[in-house]
This record gives sequence, C-alpha cells and structure tokens, in this order.
Amino acid sequence: MRVVRTVAQLREALEYMRQGGHTPIGFVPTMGYLHEGHASLLRRAGEMSSTVVMSIFVNPLQFGPNEDFASYPRDEVRDLELAEREGADIVFIPSVEEMYPQPIRTKVSVSSLTTQLCGASRPGHFDGVTTVVSKLFNIVQPDYAFFGLKDAQQVAVLRRMVSDLNMNVEIIACPIVRENDGLALSSRNVYLSAQERSQALVLSRSLQSVRQAMEEGKVRTVDDARNLLVSVISSSPLAVIDYAEILTFPELETLDGSSLLTDADGEIIMALAVKFGRTRLIDNNVFIPKEAHALV
Ligand code: PAJ
Repeated sequence: MRVVRTVAQLREALEYMRQGGHTPIGFVPTMGYLHEGHASLLRRAGEMSSTVVMSIFVNPLQFGPNEDFASYPRDEVRDLELAEREGADIVFIPSVEEMYPQPIRTKVSVSSLTTQLCGASRPGHFDGVTTVVSKLFNIVQPDYAFFGLKDAQQVAVLRRMVSDLNMNVEIIACPIVRENDGLALSSRNVYLSAQERSQALVLSRSLQSVRQAMEEGKVRTVDDARNLLVSVISSSPLAVIDYAEILTFPELETLDGSSLLTDADGEIIMALAVKFGRTRLIDNNVFIPKEAHALV
C-alpha cells in the first residue's frame, strides 16, 4: 500500500497503475477515523476494481462555523492499518493547504436536493461536499466511487452532480453497517456518553418500528409513519429531534401527509437527525413501500 500526501504524487502513482493495466480504479473518499462502515466500502471497491484508492481528508469546506471541524476525531496510524488490512492500494492524505492552496473561488453546488434534511440544518454543507468530491474526482479520475447509504442525501446529491455534469464515474451506493444492537456506525459515535449511546438506539428502533407496523397494516399514511417515528424517538429523554422526515428517494420530494405510503411510486426514505447532548446522529431507511421489503 502506498501513502501519498500530494496531488502530484497521487497522479504519478495512478499513472503507474494505469500503465500497468491495473484498472478499473475504485475510489473511496473518507474523512478518516475509519470503522467497519468505511471497511465495507473498501471491500466492495476491491471486488469491483483492480486499484483501490482511499482518501482521508477532513474537509473544512463542509463544516459550519459552529461545527466540529477542529475536534473531528483523527487517528492516522489506526486508519492506515485498517486501510491496508482491507486492501487499499493507495491512500491519499492531503493537508488542508494541499487541497486548498488558495482561497477557493469555484464551487460546485447542487440545487433543490440540498435544501431539505441535513441541507436545512447545515447550510453550505453540501456545497462543501460536492466541491471537494469534484476536486477528488478530477484528481483520481476513478471508474467507480463508493459511498455509504448512511449518508443517503449525500448519495442522492452526488449522483445528481455526476449526472448533471457528465462526470465519467459511476457512483456505487453501499448498505448501512450497524453495530449488533442496531446503532449505525459513525466516526462521531465516540462523542457519546454511555447513557447517550444507549438512548441513541431509538434511531434504528424507530425505523424498524415503522417498517414492522407497515407490514402489520398498523401504519398506512405518511403522517402515521412520521408520528410513529417521532413517538418512538421521544421515548428517549435525551433525544432532541432535528428532523424526522419521509420523502421520495432519490428526488427528496415531500409526500402529502394524508397519502398512503403504498401510493408512492418507487423508493421512499425515512430520514432522521437527532441530537444527544452535543452529538448529532443521522440514520435512515430507503425502501419501496409497494414491495414493503428493505433495500438496505
Ligand atoms: P465520512 O463521514 O468519513 O464517510 C465516508 C464514507 O463512509 C461515506 O460514503 C459514508 O456514507 C460512509 N459511511 C459512514 N458510516 C457508514 C456506515 N455506518 N455504513 C456504511 N457506510 C458508511 O462522508 C464523508 O466522510 C464526506 O462527506 C466525504 C464524502 C468524504 C467528503 O468529504
């Protein structure tokens, strides 16, 4: 495994792989503090590609002024061990100066899909994501790029960016990896106290409750489903709901509250963002109500 820290070194390493015929190239962008969710992306990339590139870069552009950029957890030594174990060929770890040597005057911005859910609570966040991912795509020029459905809105936004701008890369969406008790893995889970950690289980539990109630015919409308989500989450005294929404996926359009879930054509997303103390957690479930079986 090669570790490179500059764009020039990365381009050189990639040129070498391309000349040796080690294509297709699969790319896994991350912000580090790697866990089993990131590992699952590396493994999927390894199945589909001859060269696997991972980036580790905590991107200041996607953090708001009052967010956790400075305190975002970092552990390069452990990350490199995991990357090597999971089959990465090249790891790109640029500094902020390497990625942004001058104030950035060009931004990539996807409209409409970025105004709801996390886009509403984190203004400018998705512009930061689409801008850095565009830069990374231009540097790596991967055939495939792997993203987790843990950040389902990010997947929807990036798919639209790639399609709108004719980027020559295929976005591969991978399922959410969870702890045995249901908590979706996240680098931010380390912020949780023991009490918050145990109450945070209401996220996955609320999504499961709605799926089960739907299958039993106890939840039929969009409002029923939203009310059940909110009531299960509210059973945890520490939970402060940022949003609990049910939208079409991947268009992220609102559904009429009185409409039947089974009237929706195609996929819908139940998406949650809930704060426990200072830690904001997200979770979601994407599925086809007509078929009433999980896609993820
Ligand atoms: P980060 O939060 O490090 O996540 C990197 C990738 O890992 C994302 O595609 C994310 O969806 C995926 N991931 C995180 N937790 C997961 C889980 N429990 N199961 C499956 N996949 C999971 O997302 C970012 O970084 C950044 O926004 C980035 C795309 C790197 C741009 O800066």
